[in-house]
Amino acid sequence: MTSAASSAGSRPRVVLGVAGGIAAYKACELLRRFTESGHDVTVVPTAAALEFVGAPTWAALSGKPVSAEVWDGVHEVPHVRLGQTADLVVVAPATADLLAKAAHGLADDLLTNTLLTARCPVVLAPAMHTEMWEHPATAANVATLRSRGVLVVEPAEGRLTGADTGKGRLPEPAEIFEVARDVLARSQAGSSSATGALDLAGCHVVVSAGGTRERLDPVRFLGNRSSGRQGYALARAAVARGAEVTLVAANVDLPDPAGVKVVRVESTAELRDAVLSATAGADAVVMAAAPADFRPTQLSDVKIKKADDGSAPSITLQQNPDILKEISTHRARPDAVIVGFAAETGDATGSVLDLARAKLARKGCDLLVVNDVSGGAVFGSADNEAVILGADGSAVDVPHGSKAALAHLIWDQVVTRLS
Ligand SMILES: Cc1cc2nc3c(=O)[nH]c(=O)nc-3n(C[C@H](O)[C@H](O)[C@H](O)COP(=O)(O)O)c2cc1C
Repeated sequence: MTSAASSAGSRPRVVLGVAGGIAAYKACELLRRFTESGHDVTVVPTAAALEFVGAPTWAALSGKPVSAEVWDGVHEVPHVRLGQTADLVVVAPATADLLAKAAHGLADDLLTNTLLTARCPVVLAPAMHTEMWEHPATAANVATLRSRGVLVVEPAEGRLTGADTGKGRLPEPAEIFEVARDVLARSQAGSSSATGALDLAGCHVVVSAGGTRERLDPVRFLGNRSSGRQGYALARAAVARGAEVTLVAANVDLPDPAGVKVVRVESTAELRDAVLSATAGADAVVMAAAPADFRPTQLSDVKIKKADDGSAPSITLQQNPDILKEISTHRARPDAVIVGFAAETGDATGSVLDLARAKLARKGCDLLVVNDVSGGAVFGSADNEAVILGADGSAVDVPHGSKAALAHLIWDQVVTRLS
């Protein structure tokens, strides 16, 4: 009935369902990512999907026979076996029709039978025109599926079939892969049921990422070295745990994570506005962005020129608003969990942790993730090392590891504090 592959120590078994949407061709890249990272993948297209991408493509890329029907290879009862033995079922793209069938338990082809027999985590990545996505029938089907523990990834906004744009685009395959891999890893690490792993389902979380820039003139700015990677890892991890995620990104050059609403900002003032408006109903806010503490008092609307006498211009700075303190002391929701980040170096007044404890008290947030950035080691790196301090006096040491791993440990702390 359950994770046969994992218990046998063999490659994780993934069923990749492909429904009949224009984005079916993107599932070829998703398939490659799974196979190249050591997964055993069976592709189950619908008959409509085969109108877009033929069975030979799926068979050649997966190295397995492909059928949309329950009538092929009946001696192996594929209509129940595939679902029963899968470690993960991912459907990308999931059409409006597929969502409706799955929500209502219809089983008229191999993919819908597999969805009924699967007891492993199920990830659906819908893609369709905005009108179809926003239709109350689709919204109700999505709600039903989510209530049953299915992870339905929000579609992206952007170019749709033809010239139109809007919400309904399939997120980039590389990003769907990240979500799916995360869901599979958590399930294999012990979150035994699909619902158990989605401990942020029904929650709206806001994450800020990147470093703000304060303009000096049309070509120059004051900035910092934050890459946004930790914030993006937090957003990805929250999606994989079922959250609705708004990511406020300041000058980040990374692909949009799947299922995330991304709001782009440049300065600390813009970051503040975007965070305040996103946090109104949020259950949790994680401020992983590095806002500039100061901005130039004056913005020159022409490029500041070099002086002939070699003298340097003087720049006067003023303090920016303290966003973390503001959202912590004037909480939009008293029960929201607010997390700050402190990139610290120790100094004559105290150690990194002394300074961080003082900062936690000063800001009034619930958790403070402390990075020792002496030497600039953390910036732009895929790894991190931190201590998660709690306002209740707790301290969780996070040894050197991936930013994705730290992201999950932060969400673990948030989940225990959500009422
Ligand atoms: C050119 C074309 C593009 C389509 N794109 C989508 C799409 O992106 N999303 C969707 O839900 N339906 C789309 N459809 C409609 C589906 O193909 C149709 O609902 C079909 O019955 C889906 O079958 P399935 O859910 O079994 O795959 C498209 C149809 C055509 C002809």
